[in-house]
Amino acid sequence: MDDNQKLPADAKSAAPVTVPRFVAAKRQKRRLAVLTAYDYTWAGIVDAAGVDAILVGDTLGMVVQGHDTTLPVTLDEMIYHAEMVTRAVKRALVIVDMPFMTYQVSPETAIANAGRILKETRAACVKIEGGVNQAETIRAMTAADIPVMAHVGLKPQSVRMLGGMGKIQRDEQRLLDDARAAQDAGAFGIVLELIPRQLAAAITAELEIPTIGIGAGPDCDGQVLVLNDMLGLTDGFQPKFLKRYAELHGEAVQAATQYVTEVREGSFPDDAHSHD
Ligand code: KIV
Repeated sequence: MDDNQKLPADAKSAAPVTVPRFVAAKRQKRRLAVLTAYDYTWAGIVDAAGVDAILVGDTLGMVVQGHDTTLPVTLDEMIYHAEMVTRAVKRALVIVDMPFMTYQVSPETAIANAGRILKETRAACVKIEGGVNQAETIRAMTAADIPVMAHVGLKPQSVRMLGGMGKIQRDEQRLLDDARAAQDAGAFGIVLELIPRQLAAAITAELEIPTIGIGAGPDCDGQVLVLNDMLGLTDGFQPKFLKRYAELHGEAVQAATQYVTEVREGSFPDDAHSHD
């Protein structure tokens, strides 16, 4: 069996995933698989696995840069990472997070900053956090031909207002209003983060655009996970919604430890790894 045969059916199609194809998946009742990636190597791996979209998330502030929130991430840093990702990707839709304070100030600033992302990387679209409060901005951006994904529920960029992260968002009316407002303003999709599964199911049933859940249960139109978390690269982070598909942190530490031992005892490089 060659590698291509092991991929899910739709991943065998070489046709790039565009925004309209991504949106059409909901009508076609085809679940969307999304993962984050932040560099060339991992983007290539994730694309080869057949994901529908790669999110260059501002979670890179935490899992790549080591900050405790996403707030310090800059637009230039997002562009730097998005460029690496788009260089590797052959098929997946690449979505780039707009970092804190690059779209909240005004719709004009949002258009200018999203414009930089689309012009300086080969990404097709951006994601911003918000619903009702960002409807005007989403409307202005889509009118400027910038496809926008919205993000409601837990919004990590609101960490200072929330006083912390990780709390399930249960305000039903507010979440419904946010989701409706994002769709009405022209968002092509919407991330639902950390909300009860029944509410995510209700929002998904009502909206025409795909919902992509993280900690929002199985009834969303698609799912997204942070790559470093689902690969078990982030040590000790285990919220209930996170399934770890590998334990790469432990494996990497073990490999590096073995290398250190072999170098110190003189068993690496051996004959097999030396040139005559
Ligand atoms: O930045 C990110 O990785 C995200 C996901 C958690 C959805 O927004």
